[in-house]
Formats: sequence, structure tokens, C-alpha cells
Amino acid sequence: MTGTTGRVGAALARAFAPDHTVVELPRAAFDLSDPEAMAAALDLLDCEVFVNPAGLTGLEDCLDRPGLAWRVNAEAPGEIAAWAARRGVRMIHFSTDYVFAELPPGLRRVDDPTDPPSDYGRSKLAGEQAVLAHPGHCVVRVSWVFGPEKPSFVDQIRRRALAGEAISAVDDKFSLPSYTRDLTDWIRVLAHGGATGLIQACNSGSPASWHDLATATVRHLHQRGKLATLPEIERVPLAENTAFRAPRVRHSAMDNSRLAGLLETPPRPWQDALADYLDRT
Ligand SMILES: NC(=O)c1ccc[n+]([C@@H]2O[C@H](COP(=O)([O-])OP(=O)(O)OC[C@H]3O[C@@H](n4cnc5c(N)ncnc54)[C@H](OP(=O)(O)O)[C@@H]3O)[C@@H](O)[C@H]2O)c1
Repeated sequence: MTGTTGRVGAALARAFAPDHTVVELPRAAFDLSDPEAMAAALDLLDCEVFVNPAGLTGLEDCLDRPGLAWRVNAEAPGEIAAWAARRGVRMIHFSTDYVFAELPPGLRRVDDPTDPPSDYGRSKLAGEQAVLAHPGHCVVRVSWVFGPEKPSFVDQIRRRALAGEAISAVDDKFSLPSYTRDLTDWIRVLAHGGATGLIQACNSGSPASWHDLATATVRHLHQRGKLATLPEIERVPLAENTAFRAPRVRHSAMDNSRLAGLLETPPRPWQDALADYLDRT
């Protein structure tokens, strides 16, 4: 498993370790930017499933280093996928809702048009396609991941609210969050059930903005008595967020019905997952 120092890989490695032999492949042992070193490491590897959450995940990083983004997010997954197919190993690769084109509001289905405006999205889309060229593999698109493995937007909002600091959030870009505690359960089902093809894995609900996520976070803290008053959350249009230099589409919340059909219990609403996370941490 690659990417185990990252948010998703750390969660997966911890969830699978008790009942599987997890071979962690950190960057020092398996550098996706180095094709020769990668090929040499693959030669020595013996596994049933190769899980690849590693990637160059920052949109601005990918904008600044498009060649590296292409190598790590597109070429390397393709090379791993070809190696895995030759060896009879199944690959579970991770992708993103940033692959979609700018489309009207609504839930994006797996076959909705992809035409990402960012280097990140284009490189991830090429990675998906290279992996899916091998019919036995599985690509899992996730979005807005949060969990205890690494601080995310939710933790930033909680910290600011508890410190009494001003809070602002983009209110015109919509997605759906994925809680790592739920994601690891879903991946377990996909891995053991032999799922193949493209799967969209996020919690359920209507498309939510960062402002919606921030509002749900402070309301929950208020309900639990951790905040005496509800703080005001300033609304920021996407176009005015100066931290974002790479272009982003506004409507990329994913339809998770294919995943829901494979699970005994469909993914819970994102508000329930968020409340659970805030109560646990
Ligand atoms: N988090 C989200 O909200 C989100 C949303 C949509 C899709 N995704 C997708 O989900 C997957 C996992 O994301 P994440 O949130 O876990 O990402 P993350 O926290 O940024 O972790 C990225 C991981 O990739 C590793 N990595 C980066 N470059 C590498 C290289 N050249 N060679 C080997 N390893 C390298 C990093 O290792 P180092 O620690 O050494 O840097 C780290 O372990 C990615 O495919 C991402 O595109 C995530």
C-alpha cells in the first residue's frame, strides 16, 4: 500500500492491519516520481491487492509542477496497473471529484462528462483511465476527506470556533465529504467483494458547500455545549478566495449509488458522519 503517510493511506493501513498483512510503501521505498526505482520495487513485491492512495494531491502544487503531477498521478498508476495485471494482482486506485467538467448543479454520476480545468484533475483523470484500461482493477473516487489521520477543513473550523477567531468559508462550490472511518469500511467491502471498475465513495446527502460544512460543525459544537454562542460564518464567493490559484469547478458532489448497491447499509448522511467524528475527537 502506498501513501500511508497521507490521510487516506494512513486510515486504510490502520484499518486493515489487524487482519491483513499490510506492506507499507512509503516514498523512500517506492517513489512514484522515479520510474526505475518503482519498477525495481515492484519486481520484489508479492501481494494479492495493490492499494494506491498516494498522489500529488494539492491543486496549487500540481499547477506549479505539472510535469511531476503527470508523472505521479497519471503515469505511475498506469505502470502499477500494467504490472498488477501481468502478475494477477488486483489494484485499488484512488481518484477524485476534481475530474469533472463544469456542469450544472446536481449529483455527478460516474459517467458524467469529465473535462477538468486543473492540472490536478487532468492528471488524476489520466491516472483513472490508465488503471481502468485493465478490467480487473478498481478506481475509487473520493471527495473532501476528513478524519483523525491528518487535519482537514473541519478541524480548522473547529479550532477557529473554539479559539473565538473569525471564520469565513466558500459558499458557492459544492461537493460531498467522505469520513475516513466510513471510507475504510467501504474499501473493505470493495476489496473482499472483488469490485472492479469506477466507484464513487462519499457520504450521502445533497451537495454541500464549505459554508454548509462549517455551519454544521459549529452547530454541533454548540449543541454539545462546547460553544456558548453560534459564531457568524462569513460567506466567501469561490472567485474571491485568493488562496486558490488553480481553477476549480463549482458542482462536483458525487452520486454514490453504485457504492450503496454494494454495501449492506448505504453510506450514512454526511451530517451524521461529521457529528460522529466531532464526538470522537
Ligand atoms: N483528501 C481529499 O479530500 C481527497 C479528495 C479527493 C481525492 N483524494 C484522493 O485520495 C487519494 C489520497 O489522498 P490523501 O488525502 O490521503 O492525500 P495526502 O494526505 O496528500 O497524502 C498523499 C500521499 O501520497 C504520498 N506521495 C506523494 N508523492 C509521492 C511520490 N512521489 N512517491 C510516493 N508517495 C508519494 C505522500 O507521501 P509523503 O508523506 O512522503 O509526501 C502521502 O503519503 C489521492 O489519490 C487523492 O487524489 C483525496
